[in-house]
Amino acid sequence: MTGRLSADHPLAALYAGIDRYYSRKVNIHGPTPAGVDWPCLPTQELRFEQLLRVCGLQTPFSLNDIGCGYGALLAFLDKRHTQAARINYLGVDLSAAMVAQARLLWHQRPLTEFLAANTSPRVADYSVASGIFNVKLDQPRALWESFIARTLADLHRNSRAGFAVNFLAPLAGGGTGPPELYRVAPQHWQRHCEHALGARVEVLQGYGLPDEYTVIARPPR
Ligand SMILES: C[S@@+](CC[C@H](N)C(=O)[O-])C[C@H]1O[C@@H](n2cnc3c(N)ncnc32)[C@H](O)[C@@H]1O
Repeated sequence: MTGRLSADHPLAALYAGIDRYYSRKVNIHGPTPAGVDWPCLPTQELRFEQLLRVCGLQTPFSLNDIGCGYGALLAFLDKRHTQAARINYLGVDLSAAMVAQARLLWHQRPLTEFLAANTSPRVADYSVASGIFNVKLDQPRALWESFIARTLADLHRNSRAGFAVNFLAPLAGGGTGPPELYRVAPQHWQRHCEHALGARVEVLQGYGLPDEYTVIARPPR
């Protein structure tokens, strides 16, 4: 399977933990926002709206959706964008249970495929990833950050025209909140994308989710 790590790889246990966590969610709640650990559809869609700002939606394009869950982004695209049917979509998720739900829902949709993996096997025009960095479970912060750096490098390599991801911001009151959540100031990964990946970066904030933000990274001009 694409992107599968050998059992002794430093990130193998981390991926297995993510897989267990989200497979359990979707097995309990089915293909619903709760099944991908989101509180509700309106905020799930608000995140998609921000992430899709990386794409020019007027012309057809190819899109990798990393951590696609049950493919909720497709429902949003079909509802909101007249050119949606012409988007060549690949959804990738670590959780085979999630991918099984996505295939059940979307098997009749043209130009649409799903893959159980931790990275995309193809280069697309754009990539997006919603919510994949938020729940670090009991992983040490440094290991979680090496997972994020690896995922950002994959997104960069596999996106011709840009990619977009979202993060949880530090809490306004200065508290740390539940230890299983990963919170980080926007400058951290903004600088990483600029310096390590050579990307032009835009950070979107203030779109109605006060402790979240979206990072859009585009290739240099
Ligand atoms: C919070 S859910 C969001 C699902 C979907 N993006 C949405 O917003 O409806 C995160 C999903 O990302 C998957 N995931 C996390 N890290 C991943 C990775 N590196 N590669 C593929 N899938 C990943 C999880 O299995 C889970 O299904």
